[in-house]
This record gives sequence, structure tokens and C-alpha cells, in this order.
Amino acid sequence: MNKEQMIKRLKRTAILSVIAIIIGAAVAWFQIQAEQNAATGQMGTQTKSAAPIAGASVGGPFTLVDQNGEKRTEQDYADQYKLIYFGFTYCPAICPTELQKMTQVLNTLEPELAEKIQPMLITIDPERDTPEVLKDYVSLFHPRLIGLTGTQPQIDFVKKQYRVFANKVEDEELSDYTMDHSTFVYLMTPDDKLLSIYRMKDTAEYMIEDIRARL
Ligand code: NI
Repeated sequence: MNKEQMIKRLKRTAILSVIAIIIGAAVAWFQIQAEQNAATGQMGTQTKSAAPIAGASVGGPFTLVDQNGEKRTEQDYADQYKLIYFGFTYCPAICPTELQKMTQVLNTLEPELAEKIQPMLITIDPERDTPEVLKDYVSLFHPRLIGLTGTQPQIDFVKKQYRVFANKVEDEELSDYTMDHSTFVYLMTPDDKLLSIYRMKDTAEYMIEDIRARL
């Protein structure tokens, strides 16, 4: 395959990935909303705000390993709000953008608010995202961003708790695989209740206003 064909192919793969991510994200979004509707007995009252999903049963206990190889559970962050993003370090575009947005949010918030929040990246690709790989990666973003990985069953468990959609995409013509995945940022309370979910289209400004209103 010459260079031009390769670029064409990469472009096609990228487009297909984006489509899969949008579908996956939409499915997860509607599942969470449906759950909230069932919980409150309301139908069709959602507004454009992320508020109505607050309280949906998302999140919960976990046992993982941080970028320094230390075992971590939700108990280690029990006094902190959390901004949690699920992604992977080999992600070409969306993960870095979302992590940059999280960093911008934390850097723009009033320091007394920002310090109440623990930013986290939980990998959906534990096969490649070892603590060492995560350590290099998180250092590119916010200084307090922690990277969490674990065994595949540990990661599968957390993904299920957070309704995260993630799918390995093999491409025999490329030497490596990529991952399609949902790209929500979760704002959790210190006792791991869902406060807000932010989507890719939600701007840093929107997130900042929402966090100010909730913390
Ligand atoms: Ni990604």
C-alpha cells in the first residue's frame, strides 16, 4: 500500500470510528436517561441541561492501580468530588481534546472549587495502558490528573458501573488496534453519586458554570 492509499484508509477508519462513537454515546445517553425516567416516573421532561440525569445509578466502588503502580479504590478519594473520563492513551483525537477541556475547566475554576475536585482518567485499554504508559500521558494534562488502569475484569467492572461503551477495533492492515468508546465526563460527589454528565459538545465554559452551580 502506498502512502496515499494509507492516508485514505486511515481517513476512512477515522470516520467509521467517529460514527461508532456517536452511536455508542447516544445509546449510553438514552439508557441513562431512561433509567432516570423510570426512577422519577417522569417522561419527556428533560431539558437541554445535564441536570435531569443527576442521581441516575452511575458509578460505584472500584479497585484499580494508579500511574505510580499504587492500588487505588474509591475510598482513596472519599472526600473529593471527581471528574472522571474514560479513554485510552493511544486515542488519536478525542481523548486528548476531552482531557485538555477538563484541564482548562480545573485551571479556570476558582482554586477553592478546583481543589475539591479530583480529575481522573480511567483507561478502557488496560492491555496497552500500563501504569508507566499512563504516567507519561497524564503528565501532559493537569498536574493533579491521575491515571487508573487494572486487569481486564477490573476495568470491565468499572465500565459497567459507569455505563461506558468501549469496543476494540481490529484492522489487519494496520499493525495496531484502536478503540471506539463513549466520551462522557462524569462529575461525581464525594460519596460517588452522579452530579452531571458532560458530552463532547459541552464546552469548558458550560462545564465551569455547571460545576459552580453544583459544588
Ligand atoms: Ni478516545
